[in-house]
Amino acid sequence: MQQINVKPASGRLGILTPGMGAVSTTFMAGVISARKGLSKPIGSLTEMGYIRLGKRTEKRQSLIREFLPFARLDDIVFGGWDIFTDNAYEAASKARVLRPEHLDPIKEEMTQIKPMAAVFDPAFVKNISGPNIKKGKNKLDLADQLRADIRNFKKNNNCERLVLVWCGSTEAHLKVGPEHQTLEGFEKAMKEDSPNISPSMIYTYASLMEGVPYVNGAPNLSVELPCLMKLAEDKGVPIAGSDFKTGQTLMKTIIAPGLKARLLGIAGWYSTNILGNRDGEVLQDPESFKSKEVSKLSVLDSILEPERYPDLYGDLHHLVKINYYKPRGDNKEGWDNIDIMGWMGYDMQIKVNFLCRDSILAAPLVLDLAQFMDLAARSGFKGIQEWLSFYLKSPLAKQGLQPEHDLQVQKLKLENTLRYIGKEELINHLGLTYYGYDEGDASKIGN
Ligand SMILES: NC(=O)c1ccc[n+]([C@@H]2O[C@H](COP(=O)([O-])OP(=O)(O)OC[C@H]3O[C@@H](n4cnc5c(N)ncnc54)[C@H](O)[C@@H]3O)[C@@H](O)[C@H]2O)c1
Repeated sequence: MQQINVKPASGRLGILTPGMGAVSTTFMAGVISARKGLSKPIGSLTEMGYIRLGKRTEKRQSLIREFLPFARLDDIVFGGWDIFTDNAYEAASKARVLRPEHLDPIKEEMTQIKPMAAVFDPAFVKNISGPNIKKGKNKLDLADQLRADIRNFKKNNNCERLVLVWCGSTEAHLKVGPEHQTLEGFEKAMKEDSPNISPSMIYTYASLMEGVPYVNGAPNLSVELPCLMKLAEDKGVPIAGSDFKTGQTLMKTIIAPGLKARLLGIAGWYSTNILGNRDGEVLQDPESFKSKEVSKLSVLDSILEPERYPDLYGDLHHLVKINYYKPRGDNKEGWDNIDIMGWMGYDMQIKVNFLCRDSILAAPLVLDLAQFMDLAARSGFKGIQEWLSFYLKSPLAKQGLQPEHDLQVQKLKLENTLRYIGKEELINHLGLTYYGYDEGDASKIGN
């Protein structure tokens, strides 16, 4: 087995988010609040999760953050870019995710986090406009300005390492084109201001060129480009994406694998949402919604394999709707109606009504993704980090590999990767040795 030698998590880790809106500022507020002991980082595996090590009989459970080296919350520094000039306190107040009683005690720290000027193009995000936008000769020049921001942030904040997590608005849907194939072609297209180069692609390029791991938290195309995936490999930088798996899709990837495991058929899955935050407003634009829809729809096909199980899933009618409805703010309400069928084709229904809080669900994912990406970088991993599929609606996988969507399989993959990094036995859950069987080669792997 290849030996991984993880570098220590010494010094400060800068977490930079393009986009300092609801998700980003809720994440920052939660970390600052946790380090003051004012709240618990609920939902974060790297803060609160345990991992089993060795055989069940050994009864060894370790806090993940004690098993492997991670940045301490005290060593995390925040930064970001936005088209608005609001500092993180103002942006969080306007997002109305957190109540004043939770924001006021951290006002001083939040006020100090000020957005850098954004690379923005209204062709990609229609329903918002703001004053804090970079000007440049062309898109390559804008990328250079972002690269300078990244370097300056690292220097001025005395950071050892950085991670970028895209928390910007969902951009209009784009398909991979000829200008996205090679780095030379991509740079030429940026120089020529090609309309097929979006701001999120420019941030990704800048991040990778600076050797900084990059996560795409939204469904728009950026880190998925062939030229940028290759750049990540060539520069030895980890990448992950796309689209944080939080509310309805999280539920889907819990429920669908369970139904499939019992070979219950599904005739239809109708998902609808009402949402009143800025994200919901942006998603009213059909182009931005298209990016979201593609990401949300792909999940079921991949889990259910309709081509293998045509009798059970071959005729599945899957619909996803998002409606902007202002009174709800960030408190998204999702309804799922699932038409299932059992023995002899008898029909049944499942209804799920999820009254969630979008950014409350997404915030711990930003922390975990940043911490795990930093761990990946310190472990010498590069390119696609499939083990972080656990957090994403449209997980990246190498060309030719089916992405894994089942939340429990994703969790096993993540845990085994941590064991691998920490030089512990992998766990395959076979469990026969406890009953006196010889597992042969499998016994080299803990059960
Ligand atoms: N909250 C969730 O559960 C969840 C789940 C999956 C994905 N997402 C995605 O995360 C992203 C952030 O969500 P949110 O609720 O914080 O949205 P938000 O609208 O509150 O914040 C997005 C911020 O990005 C800024 N922005 C837009 N384009 C930018 C650019 N080019 N550069 C810098 N800043 C830019 C906007 O001004 C805004 O402040 C969205 O794309 C959303 O679809 C959220």
